[in-house]
Amino acid sequence: MDYKTAERILRAHGQEQVLRYYGELSEEEKRSLLSQIEKIDWNTIALYSHPENLSGTGKIQPISGLKIADIERRRAEFLSCGTEIVKSGKVGAVMLAGGQGTRLGSDSPKGAYDIGITRPVYIFERLIRNLQGVCRECGAIVPLYIMVSEKNEAETRAFLKEHDYFGYPADSIYFFCQELAPGVDENGKLFLESKGSLALSPNGNGGWYSSLVRAGLDKDLQARGVEWLNVFAVDNVLQRIADPVFVGATALSGRNCGAKVVLKAEPHERVGVLCLEDGKPNIIEYYELTEEMANARDESGDLAFCYGVILNYLFRTDVLKEIADRRIPVHVVKKHIPYLDEAGNYVIPEKENGYKFETLILDMVRLAGSCLPFEVVREREFAPIKNKTGVDSVETARVLLEKNGVKL
Ligand code: UTP
Repeated sequence: MDYKTAERILRAHGQEQVLRYYGELSEEEKRSLLSQIEKIDWNTIALYSHPENLSGTGKIQPISGLKIADIERRRAEFLSCGTEIVKSGKVGAVMLAGGQGTRLGSDSPKGAYDIGITRPVYIFERLIRNLQGVCRECGAIVPLYIMVSEKNEAETRAFLKEHDYFGYPADSIYFFCQELAPGVDENGKLFLESKGSLALSPNGNGGWYSSLVRAGLDKDLQARGVEWLNVFAVDNVLQRIADPVFVGATALSGRNCGAKVVLKAEPHERVGVLCLEDGKPNIIEYYELTEEMANARDESGDLAFCYGVILNYLFRTDVLKEIADRRIPVHVVKKHIPYLDEAGNYVIPEKENGYKFETLILDMVRLAGSCLPFEVVREREFAPIKNKTGVDSVETARVLLEKNGVKL
């Protein structure tokens, strides 16, 4: 794109400030800024003033799932079926590691964070060790696909290589890059991060499958005969990945995907809840549940809307292929966005100062058409690290890891 075209497009959208420092840039910086402008999806930016209606408008009902007692009763059956599937190479794992981990506040990739006390214990290491456990049990190698972003790809690759992939076979680890999207201020104006660059950040975890396909890795899935993908967040250091019991239960249920869930501790716990909306699985935020729904009980007296999601999903690859071209909604999310102010100073805001545009994996669950909630024991499988201290933090994860026998 040339300067004139960029100027015209920006003027048409009231975004001329993006070229404020153009005259000061080197030729290469100019080219790079023009290329960023060319890639802007103006329909997405327009959502700033006209966001999609994302709160459920359909009929919300509880979804049937498997609770611990159900799983224990059929454990042997699930384990045998799932082990067979993992053993025959039909399960792959997808680590979502493209986020910026802003709440944790580390400049490095979140997975490279050291949560050890007396020795280094990295988040990536914990996840890979969990996966190695399953590989050992099933006598198989589960290919691991790691989603990164342009912001952390080089560092993630270098970190894992330097640690020899924590013993995981390097030829079964693949990296792929997700896309970035620009952020806007409270008036919808695009932020600059430097004189020659928009403030770009990862565009959410909902585009993971299309990014994987863009990287050509669907061919690898096909060549390996992978039929199930277990997609998980980088920050839950206790989760079991490619868990054969979960795989077996989901496969035997005949549903298109499975979701590991924890039972809500109380009616108003701040966790996304898996339910049915007009008969299709959906995840609704805790604040979207009415008082009546939050307190509703089933025939056994348990909470009816009880399944809190923990970002660990198992999708059938044929279903992913089918839904790959469908659009998923864009969420406009209020965030802290560092930016260059009018005087050319780089500002790290103390409070949320703008909006980012993100797609979320939970919207793929709806597209999948059917989903099995599969309960896990919270204290054994859910230790997310979002913050340094307080709720869902390095501190709380350390306590849970130690309870589960991990030496820190
Ligand atoms: P979070 O929503 O917790 O975001 O991501 P985050 O980037 O890790 O942390 P904050 O909100 O900035 O503090 C949940 C999972 O989705 C991944 C994250 O890496 C994490 O595993 N993710 C998130 C991506 O892979 N890409 C994204 O664009 C966003």
